[in-house]
Amino acid sequence: MAGIPHDHYEPGSGFERWLHRRLPIVALAYDTIMIPTPKNLNWMWIWGIVLTFCLALQIVTGIILAMHYTPHVDLAFGSIEHIMRNVNGGHMLRYLHMNGASLFFFAVYMHIFRGLYYGSYKAPREITWIIGMLIYLLMMGTAFMGYVLPWGQMSFWGATVITGLFGAIPGIGDAIQTWLLGGPAVDNATLNRFFSLHYLLPFVIAALVAVHIWAFHTTGNNNPTGVEVRRTAKAEAEKDTLPFWPYYVIKDLFALALILLVFFAIVGFMPNYLGHPDNYVEANPLVTPAHIVPEWYFLPFYAILRAFDGDVWVVIAANWLSFGIIDAKFFGVLAMFGAIAVMALAPWLDTSSVRSGRYRPMFKWWFWLLVIDFVVLMWAGAMPAEGIYPTIALIGSAYWFAYFLVILPLLGVIEKPLPQPATIEDDFNAHYGAKTQPAE
Ligand code: HEM
Repeated sequence: MAGIPHDHYEPGSGFERWLHRRLPIVALAYDTIMIPTPKNLNWMWIWGIVLTFCLALQIVTGIILAMHYTPHVDLAFGSIEHIMRNVNGGHMLRYLHMNGASLFFFAVYMHIFRGLYYGSYKAPREITWIIGMLIYLLMMGTAFMGYVLPWGQMSFWGATVITGLFGAIPGIGDAIQTWLLGGPAVDNATLNRFFSLHYLLPFVIAALVAVHIWAFHTTGNNNPTGVEVRRTAKAEAEKDTLPFWPYYVIKDLFALALILLVFFAIVGFMPNYLGHPDNYVEANPLVTPAHIVPEWYFLPFYAILRAFDGDVWVVIAANWLSFGIIDAKFFGVLAMFGAIAVMALAPWLDTSSVRSGRYRPMFKWWFWLLVIDFVVLMWAGAMPAEGIYPTIALIGSAYWFAYFLVILPLLGVIEKPLPQPATIEDDFNAHYGAKTQPAE
């Protein structure tokens, strides 16, 4: 496949030529920033930049927080109070880091659902999608371990519940759990290793982001039509694209500024809105909180985890078929990881020849139902596991799996897509043509 034709860096001065022959780093930066980008990208294409900003924010604020934090069960809670009260700007740093995690997850969900709607996961962007899923899993691991560090009640009990899930693995579960915790229960060894990994993983994420960007720069970006940039001739490709700098840099920075306006309002005026009051109580292994609830961004998958109790027929069937090896708890763990696995497999489960949801009349309905399902699961995950809530969580979980395993494969066969524009240029002109024609 030929790459998208675009202007390459040409070293100008003698020094530039000297450097270029030894290390073409300026060429790499130039070609990256000038990459031809489909000119019809809408506002849903801003989240990648927001995510990059969040990663940088978390790393910078995290490194400074780590200078004042003490990873020891007797000192951790106090060291956070010290940051909040004594360190210059400490409360601001902590609130930025706490709420930065929420913005990070909000952006990643927008980014993922954008990809699901416009079929960005489909060939040839499968690797971009899979790397994205790996990043998402690492984000979850990093956020989970970070939440343990303040050593509040929710930190401790959240860690106990979630690491306990590994104990549900038949046969080897207890050994894995002990190995993860560094002992029989969540304690100092656990806190230490979580701190170490919480510091390390964002850099692994940063490396994966570089590969993610490399991958979609190789294939070119998707766009709202799902129609590819014409690659046959340079002149045609130029009609479909704009260089990333300055057009998309300015657009993305404008969007980021608006989002940061809301973000700083939350950080400044309601920094604890998304937190749990129990985490301002120091961890106490002898007192279990009434409801152990994870952070909002884990709730949909937490709901799936809890949805499958021993009365659900699939659990009973799995238990019978596996001669009792798969119990309800283990089934819940499999369902939670399975929910992410089926999403990762979307490139191969979606059989439609049309990429963008814009031209898929039936797909649209099922997609929006998936978005609603995600919100309902989030809500169900925050509710106690009693009364009507487990049933709602079960229906929500069933739809999540049905969407990826049944609906996506079937729709490709039965749906009659709408006509797509022949080129990106046609789509662009249909929307903005008259307004953007140069004056005669
Ligand atoms: C730290 C996290 C992430 C960062 C910094 C990031 C960054 C980016 C950027 C800058 C783009 C270019 C288009 C845009 O701005 O939307 C992009 C595209 C893409 N991302 Fe991510 N991403 C992250 C996580 C994810 C995740 C979790 C997924 C889902 C599996 C994902 C899937 C994709 C796909 C499929 C594209 C190609 C779509 C296109 O080119 O239009 N990304 N990403």
